[in-house]
Amino acid sequence: MSYCAYELNIPNLEELKNEIHEYTNNFDWKGDWPPCQNYKNIGPNVLKFYKLFNHCFMNTVRIIKSPAETNWLPHIEIDHGGKFDKFKGEIDNSQQINSVINIMVVNSVEDETRFYFDRDLNKFYHPTKEPFSPEYSRYDRKKDLKLIDKFNVNKNPVLINTGTWHAIKNNSPRVGLSFFVHPWISFEAVVDFCRDNNILIER
Ligand SMILES: [Fe+2]
Repeated sequence: MSYCAYELNIPNLEELKNEIHEYTNNFDWKGDWPPCQNYKNIGPNVLKFYKLFNHCFMNTVRIIKSPAETNWLPHIEIDHGGKFDKFKGEIDNSQQINSVINIMVVNSVEDETRFYFDRDLNKFYHPTKEPFSPEYSRYDRKKDLKLIDKFNVNKNPVLINTGTWHAIKNNSPRVGLSFFVHPWISFEAVVDFCRDNNILIER
């Protein structure tokens, strides 16, 4: 079993969460493709959070407002490009995001994120313009998925390995922000950074 998720001990967490909560109130509930925004528009606590991580995150943050009973099937975090270009050209199309930090503002104890290896070692091709064409069959192509880790999100920020297959079925609503680490930084490097800076909560 390799660990694919860690809770983080972030300074001034309550202030940061309050700022995020207030910000997410401006957006509607989306079960499908949550809106993305520039981190500079959120507030001073998010700026401090970027500084804490040496600005390793993409400029775009994801607003999560998933209603209860949303089922995110196994996928890998990819920049879709084209009309779904959430990173606004900051990285090339099809690049893989290895790590994401989620800061949720509505507590949940039941929503389990699951991580997998694809034991069929499928090659997946990502088209330039049509993210959901059959060539990018992240959901429907046969995969022999082996569960390698599972993690329940609670009140702390969570660092997750989004460069491997992962899925979540949320029983309760999910509200918060996702911070995407630049693709050339590995999940292991972020874990190591957090451990060295005493903000990693060991499992
Ligand atoms: Fe994901």
